[in-house]
Amino acid sequence: MREGEHVLDEGRQGEATVVAGPGAGARKLYLESYGCQMNFSDSEIVASILSDAGYQTTRNEDEADLVLLNTCAIRDNAEQRVRNRLVHFKGNKAKNPSLVVGVLGCMAERLREKLLEEEKLVDLVVGPDAYRDLPNLVDHVEGGQKAVNVLLSREETYAEISPVRLDSSGVTAFISIMRGCDNMCSFCVVPFTRGRERSRDPQSIVREAHELFAAGYREVTLLGQNVDSYKWNIDNKGVIKDDAQPVVRFAELLEMVAAVNPDLRVRFSTSHPKDMTDDVLHAMSRHENICKYIHLPVQSGHSDVLKRMNRGYTREWYLDRIAAIRRIMPDCAISTDVITGFCGETEEEHQATLSLMDEVRYEMAFMFKYSERPKTLAERKFEDDVPEEIKGARLQEVIARQMIHGKERTQALVGKVHRVLIEGTSKKRDDQFFGRTTHNTVVVFPKGDLQVGQYVNVKTFDSTPVTLMGEVTDEPSES
Ligand code: 5AD
Ligand code: SF4
Repeated sequence: MREGEHVLDEGRQGEATVVAGPGAGARKLYLESYGCQMNFSDSEIVASILSDAGYQTTRNEDEADLVLLNTCAIRDNAEQRVRNRLVHFKGNKAKNPSLVVGVLGCMAERLREKLLEEEKLVDLVVGPDAYRDLPNLVDHVEGGQKAVNVLLSREETYAEISPVRLDSSGVTAFISIMRGCDNMCSFCVVPFTRGRERSRDPQSIVREAHELFAAGYREVTLLGQNVDSYKWNIDNKGVIKDDAQPVVRFAELLEMVAAVNPDLRVRFSTSHPKDMTDDVLHAMSRHENICKYIHLPVQSGHSDVLKRMNRGYTREWYLDRIAAIRRIMPDCAISTDVITGFCGETEEEHQATLSLMDEVRYEMAFMFKYSERPKTLAERKFEDDVPEEIKGARLQEVIARQMIHGKERTQALVGKVHRVLIEGTSKKRDDQFFGRTTHNTVVVFPKGDLQVGQYVNVKTFDSTPVTLMGEVTDEPSES
């Protein structure tokens, strides 16, 4: 889950998650992840690389020999939280001088000098494309040196590394299908921290999905900053790179993964409105196991703001994409991201965001105040001129509007029968399971003698703003 977000969906994970998983060896790794799903997925690659080097993950920071924070730089408060943690670990180091503390992920490139030299908070700084180098870098540190590798790559996709599934119920898993981003939205630091976009070999993706299914997993989420621009064996000009290999775009990849097994649910994130084509929507509608849920970040409802944001679409284009979703899959759930108080945002432009929300009526939204990020186009070109109180007040209005829509959407699902994949025990009640509908709505229901990982039909009788309550039924599902 993203840092600092205002999310109206209780069923999601906490902001920072401590991960622990299998592995054999004497040395102990304590790994903490912040930010987006991609970072959580990367932590599983890191755990795999370090497991091969003899590290075992632990949930107990006090027994760790190596502490790694997989960081997020998307908004300033994300960075502040990581800094506080680093100060805390510096305290642990005073007690245990052989403890190695490292920073991974998106803060690495930006803050390496500060963190290593000025503030002496860490021993190790490793960027998102350099994780294969971790065992070697840790050795350097153990030899008494500081170690850094923040080189970004045009090729690295970690394609053949089998992630160690951390903090997992054994039912749902992430699969990274691409890395980096070429979009250059003016507010966004990701292209600078994660580098150029590159897609992963589709065969390795399908293989990973097969392995997960064989291990009992029943849902995979295909991850990329902009999944709609996934492409294999074809360059930006449409030229095929290798005649011996097939061209695969996102719609085809989705169908390849959906074909692994009808009982394997497929989700994906994140779609980009400028690139989301009807063939992706048709692929979704053809396969029951591709979940009817699309996360389509709008950011703003006003075309002038979208232009300043360099998003590559207008309000009308975005609404046309929404209309295409509704036409091809009338029953599809849609969620979004919204930023309030972007550079120069007027009251009228803000009202346009609210009116767009009224028009679309999202199931769910992640909502943020604009936070200026170093190096971005917006930082160089525009003034961050919307006062903090106005950013905050607009955010509250956006949240209030989303509350109404989300509640309305959830209520409309009450009284219906939904096919639900059981993910685990409800956080609030031990005798209840929770799972999700195809629309990604959380449903809770009595456990009976059911098992995690099973599909069940649940008839719902009540709801909170974001969760459905129900009972298992023999009736056929309507979604
Ligand atoms: N300030 C606020 N929100 C941001 N996001 C990305 N960059 C910023 C920023 N500088 C939000 C966008 C994006 C989501 C992942 O984070 O809404 O879709
Ligand atoms: Fe950032 Fe835009 Fe790329 Fe998303 S699509 S990661 S918002 S630059």
